[in-house]
Amino acid sequence: MSDSQPIASSSASKPVLWSSRFAFIMAAVGSAVGLGNIWKFPYITGENGGGAFVLVYLACIAIIGLPLMMSEVMLGRRGRKSPIGTMEVVAAAEKGSKNWIGVGLMATLAAFIILSFYSVIAGWTMPYIISAVTGDFNDIDAERSGDLFGQLLASPGQLLLWHSIFMGLTVWVSAGGVRHGVERAVTKLMPALFVLLIILVGYASTTGHFGEALGFLFKPDFSALTAESVLIALGHAFFTLSLASGAMMAYGAYLPQKVSIARTAMVVAVMDTGVALLAGLAIFPVVFAHGLAASEGPGLIFVTLPVAFGQMPGGGFFAALFFVLLLFAAWTSSISMLESLVSYLNEKGVSRVKAAIGGGFAAWLLGITTVLSLNLWSDFTPLDSLARFEGKTLFDLYDYLTANIMMPLGALLIALFVGWKMKPEHSQAELGAWHKVWFPIVRYVTPLALLIVFAFNLR
Ligand code: TRP
Repeated sequence: MSDSQPIASSSASKPVLWSSRFAFIMAAVGSAVGLGNIWKFPYITGENGGGAFVLVYLACIAIIGLPLMMSEVMLGRRGRKSPIGTMEVVAAAEKGSKNWIGVGLMATLAAFIILSFYSVIAGWTMPYIISAVTGDFNDIDAERSGDLFGQLLASPGQLLLWHSIFMGLTVWVSAGGVRHGVERAVTKLMPALFVLLIILVGYASTTGHFGEALGFLFKPDFSALTAESVLIALGHAFFTLSLASGAMMAYGAYLPQKVSIARTAMVVAVMDTGVALLAGLAIFPVVFAHGLAASEGPGLIFVTLPVAFGQMPGGGFFAALFFVLLLFAAWTSSISMLESLVSYLNEKGVSRVKAAIGGGFAAWLLGITTVLSLNLWSDFTPLDSLARFEGKTLFDLYDYLTANIMMPLGALLIALFVGWKMKPEHSQAELGAWHKVWFPIVRYVTPLALLIVFAFNLR
């Protein structure tokens, strides 16, 4: 077997592939662009002082995020299996220990846990679309807007309803398979998302506060930056690129052999970053135009934005567009979170439909504990005896466990695998000329950066 061939190419079954490079890019960008870009990026940028934080975040994407994305797509394409199967096959081909399969297992588990709470948050977009359309936001003030959001979170029934519908949408696409489900959905939803985003940025530019938003996002003020902000920026770089959770490995497994991994990953990273910055440019002018605080926190979109939209001509319509955009973005991400598990079950002989329904149902069940964390169980903080986890609800714990432990650890192991275990000739065959730049980074820079993160986190 020549090195440029994927390892699994000798197996009898022909692997399913994306129909084009475009399809992969839409799927990968669909995975990457989600709540992380449109909900989380603007609010953490607001909380961490703007420009300087954005710069650090961009550096994290370029130096750590992009090389890791290339690594995952490469591993996926070599293995041509689910993340679990891929790690098994790829480790065997490098004469590595069987334990590398743990990387695939942890990634699949992380994606599963994230899916369970992501679906709950994504569900919030639906009542917001309805409220925007029915005029609930007209002339709403900050207090009433806060109340509306509070009422939604306080209602287990409401949250459960929207969580169920969102999970249903995710399962529906996933059950359709790679070509007929995932590819068909993302190649329609992602272009629609770009159009919506451009319309919203255009609208924001009419508020008269566009320049202020540009300054906030792009004029660095390093006095506003703390060590904590740097960690937040790095953690977000992983999350926003869907790394260390199997998504990119699973999608890489369907990438045609002739496509350039480096160039494609760059397109994905640039588009993901572009969407985050554009989301900032759609949101902050509207926030500033009404003298509201950029540092509002998680409520920036669900509390502050309705107030701002509610005072503007045509605001209801644009608010509805905004929440549709957020729903689409979250949907194409959640599909990718389910893919690791579904492709694994599929490999084990479970049909795609059964795997999607079973996996989605299990994540839905776990999601109920997130729903309850927001209301009835908001005082249930089971790990209080450990200082690190004090005061954290189940939902907080899922978030902490995945973002601060599983993802950085998975990323470290992946970097160590491709940088130290895998034969450079093998990665060279997959990456071509870009290998020269990529290799020293994943071998030295990425592991070092991740070790520093751990040292800080465990301090
Ligand atoms: N990247 C997505 C976002 O920014 C989140 C996401 C999608 C994700 N797929 C993932 C996160 C898999 C972790 C694992 O919203």
